[in-house]
Amino acid sequence: MNARIVLGVGGGIAAYKACELLRLFTESGHQVRVVPTAAALRFVGAPTWAALSGQPVAEDVWSDVHEVPHVRLGQQADLVVVAPATADLLARAAHGLADDLLSNTLLTARCPVLLAPAMHTEMWEHPATVANVATLRARGVGSSSRPWGDSPASTPARAGCRSRRRSSPSPAASWPAASTRRPT
Ligand SMILES: Cc1cc2nc3c(=O)[nH]c(=O)nc-3n(C[C@H](O)[C@H](O)[C@H](O)COP(=O)(O)O)c2cc1C
Repeated sequence: MNARIVLGVGGGIAAYKACELLRLFTESGHQVRVVPTAAALRFVGAPTWAALSGQPVAEDVWSDVHEVPHVRLGQQADLVVVAPATADLLARAAHGLADDLLSNTLLTARCPVLLAPAMHTEMWEHPATVANVATLRARGVGSSSRPWGDSPASTPARAGCRSRRRSSPSPAASWPAASTRRPT
C-alpha cells in the first residue's frame, strides 16, 4: 500500500535523523508531506525536506491558504509521524494546542499518529513532561520498545509512542512497537 504520510519534524537535535526516515518512506513508495516546526527548520532547512520528499514543504498555516493546509494535511493523511517529538510538541499535543501547522495537523488527523519523543533526560523526567506523556498514554499512546533521538552534549532520554489508531497501514509496521486505540 502506498500511503500518504505526514512527517512532522520537531526542533530537536535528532531532526537530522528524520531525513533518513523520510528517505526510507519515499523509497518504499509512500507519498510524504513534511511539516517541520519553525524550530525544526533551524536544524534542517526546507530545501532538504523538499528535495528528499519531492513534495512542497508545508511550513505554516499562512501558506497556500486556498488549500486549507491546517485542516487538509491531517484529514488526508493515512499516517502521521512526528519525529523527533520535542518536549514542547508533547505538551502541545497533550493540551490540544493548535498554534502552528503541525499541531493543527495533529488535531485534524484521524489516521494513526506515531510520536517519537527525543530529548535530554532532565526534560524527559520533568513532572510536566511526565504528566503530558501520561495524558497522551491515557488516550491510547503506547511506549516504544526502541530508542529514538540523539544529542551531542549529553545523554537524551529516548522513547517513542504512537497514538490515534484507527487502522494500521504498512509503514507503521516498521515503527517501534507500541499500540493504542484512541486519539492524542
Ligand atoms: C541545539 C538544540 C537542541 C535541542 N534539542 C532538543 C531535543 O532534543 N528535544 C527537545 O525537546 N528540545 C530540544 N531543543 C529545544 C527546542 O528546540 C525548543 O523547545 C523549541 O521550542 C521546540 O519547538 P517545536 O516543539 O515547535 O519544534 C533543542 C534546542 C537547541 C537549541
